Formats: sequence, C-alpha cells, structure tokens
Amino acid sequence: MKPVDLVISGGRLVSPDAIASQSIAVDAGKIVGIGTTEQMPPAREQIDANGLYVLPGAIDVHVHFREPGFAHKETWTTATQAAAVGGITTVFDMPNTNPPTSSVEALVQKIAIAERQAIVNFGIYGNIGEHNRDQLKPMVEAGAVSFKLYMGSENPLVPCPPDGAILDAFDVLAGLGIRCTVHAENTPILMWRGERLIRSGRRDAAAHLEQHSDIATIEAVSRTAIFSEWTGCKVHIAHESTRHSLPHIRFAKQRGVDITVETCPQYLFLSTDDGARLGPNFLRVKPPVREPGHKEPLWQALVEGTIDILSTDHAPHLREEKLRDPIWDCAPGFPGVETSMRLMLTEVSRGRLTLPQYVRMACSAPAKAFGLYPRKGTLAEGADADIVLVDMNKREIIKADRLHSIGNATPYEGFEVTGAPVRTIVRGKTVAMNGQPIGEPGWGRNVARVS
Ligand code: NCD
Ligand code: ZN
Ligand code: ZN
Repeated sequence: MKPVDLVISGGRLVSPDAIASQSIAVDAGKIVGIGTTEQMPPAREQIDANGLYVLPGAIDVHVHFREPGFAHKETWTTATQAAAVGGITTVFDMPNTNPPTSSVEALVQKIAIAERQAIVNFGIYGNIGEHNRDQLKPMVEAGAVSFKLYMGSENPLVPCPPDGAILDAFDVLAGLGIRCTVHAENTPILMWRGERLIRSGRRDAAAHLEQHSDIATIEAVSRTAIFSEWTGCKVHIAHESTRHSLPHIRFAKQRGVDITVETCPQYLFLSTDDGARLGPNFLRVKPPVREPGHKEPLWQALVEGTIDILSTDHAPHLREEKLRDPIWDCAPGFPGVETSMRLMLTEVSRGRLTLPQYVRMACSAPAKAFGLYPRKGTLAEGADADIVLVDMNKREIIKADRLHSIGNATPYEGFEVTGAPVRTIVRGKTVAMNGQPIGEPGWGRNVARVS
C-alpha cells in the first residue's frame, strides 16, 4: 500500500451517535480511511491516540477577532492560536471591526489579514446595513461565509437597519440560500431604556441588565422568526441568553421556520451571582449574563437540541477596559475560544452531557447549519482532516495569564477543569499540542472557498 501522510491509531472516535475504537488515515489534508489498526496503510507520521478521544475539530460560528481596527485587543495570530489550543479548527468572524465588513472592499481586506495570520480555518461574516443591499451577492462571490444582522445595536460602526431594510436583505439572502446570523435584541428598547437610565444617574452594573431586559431579546427572536418565515431566509439566533426565549424558539421550529440557535459558555456557567467574585462591571456582555434561574433551562434546551449550537462569542477586551466605571464605559464581552471546550468537557466528566452530544452541538450542527457538512464537522472518509485529540483525565486550572488572547480577561479565572484538547489538527497538520500553538500563520483557509 502507498504510504499516506498520517495515521492516528488507538483512539476512540466520537460522533453524535456513537463512540467507537477506530483508527484514521489522513492524506493531503483529508480523511482517506477509517477502520481497525490492521486496516491502516503505512504512514509518514503516526500518532498514538491510546487513552484519548478523537473528535472532529470544533466549529465556532461566533467570534470577534478584532482586526482590522482593534489589534490592541486581539490579532488574528493570537486569536487563532487561542482557538487552536482550545480545540477549535474553524471560526466565523463577526463584522464589527473598523472598517466594518459591510462592503466587498472591507471583506477582501479582512480575508487578506486572516489569510496571512490564521493557523485555523476561518469564515468571514458580511454585515447587513441599511444601504448595502447591492453588496450582499458580491460579498458572497468574494468569499463571505454568511451574514450578520445587528438587530440589537448601539454601535455606530454596525447600526441596526430599519425593519424594511432587514426584510429586503432577507429577500436577497433567501435567493442566495444563505443563513443570516442575528444579534436578536430590540434596538429601540435598548436606546430608550439606555437613555432613561443614564438620565436618571444610574451607573451600576444592574442598570445594564435593566437596559437589556429579557423582553428586548424575546421580541427580536420572535420578529426574526416571523421575518424568516415570510421571506424564506434561513436564520441563526446568536448568543441566546434567556429562558424566556425558549418557548418562542420551540414555536418557530414547530411551525417549520428554518431557524437555528446558539448559546455560549457565559450563559451556561455564569449568573449575576458571579458579579461578587469578578467585580460587578466585569460581567458586562451583550446580551447580559442574567439572574440565577436561566442557566438550567438553557442547559436543558442545549442538551435536548432546542438550542442547536454551542459557540463562544469570543469578544476579547483588555482588563482595564473590562474594569471601567460607570457600567456604560465597561467593554462588553469575554474571550472564549481557549476555554469553551475545557469547560464543556468538565461538564461531560460530571455527567451533565455526553461526548456525542458535545460533538453534535460544537461540530456537526454548526457545519450543517452553515453548509460545511460533511466536508467539516464529522470524522468520515472524504472530510477535511480537522481533528482534535481529547484527554478526559487531564486536569487544569484556568488562568488569564496563560491564555493566548491579548484580551485575556476571562471570567473563569481559577476554574478547575477536567478534560482538555491535547492536540489539534487542521487539514492534517498539527497546529497545537499540549496547550501550545505550533501552527504556521497562514495555514488557515477561508472555508467559503473550497480548497
Ligand atoms: C461583542 C463585541 O465586543 O464585539 N460584545 C458582546 O458583548 N457580545 C459584540 C456583540 O457580540 O454584540
Ligand atoms: Zn452580539
Ligand atoms: Zn458577538
């Protein structure tokens, strides 16, 4: 038999349905065989995965890698190093950069930045604005993977378009068959309440929660589903944060709306109770980490599949930006790509979910929702060799200063985790090992372009 590039033998392969002891042969960046050790061809590189689980690389459809415009918070090099160490082999980057990714020109600029630096695969979101409808199709042709709608926005770089413009954009995306990811909050509620709270002199962390009340999300999730139903545009709800959305999501799915939903570790592991530990302003994120009582229903919805996808909303900021006072000046969001898999594996080891369920929400469901399946999101012959080896016995303590992101202000400081990715492989090449990134900048490819 002709030798192949790589054989990974002795591990337990995890799919959404099963765990099976099998070996994998990889050649030219693709999986070319799965079978017993005896069935494996000779290989130039052998990896012994005895005692380890073998997962498809995680696909994180919601990250903010900050370039161009905010390289003091994060660069594509540091962010993709963090992702690789976190077991994430594909990321989709959000358009709230400077310039925002609202035109072909801005898209091409960002793709060039990512191509030079990335050590994992990437997709780039185009932004839906009030005046860029003519750019949507050209952006797809220029390599955008999907689109982002800031339905809840106070950011002048990516303002919320009026509903009429949203409907028109959804018509265009329906014709292109592209799913639109939505930050689903009601902007007029955010603006009205924000101004009222500021005028009344509020500067405390609780005012952020009052501004981003559950109703702002519930209404926007429902409106997104109705607009999707009307136009036929597939939609994806970003960072679901409240248990009160769940009945509306279930109703939309029951009536056949093509809607997928993600949540993120901050809504599963944190509540306002963590404000005491972290300092109250530190917790600021949009939408907010809410009162105790949301985590459990969100977990249940994720495990049962009402919430389809686990993403991170990796939104790094400098520590001093996270500690600012009043609350309105505190930068919202947290880094997430390096800690997400570790936190989730810890819950696997505690029995809250199974490894196959984790693979469904972190690998196969995102690949299916965004048209990458079965090229990505599965360990199968013909798929890209994006693979993660996981040691379920590895114990670590999360420390901000060990993370690879520049904006490393993690809310999980001191968390003890059990289970970690120990080797991350992107298209057949190891890009991270035992917590260290080793991939070459530029190895990552745009997934919207078939390589
Ligand atoms: C994000 C950011 O910092 O870019 N912040 C956040 O609180 N989630 C923006 C966003 O996702 O809305
Ligand atoms: Zn958002
Ligand atoms: Zn985000």
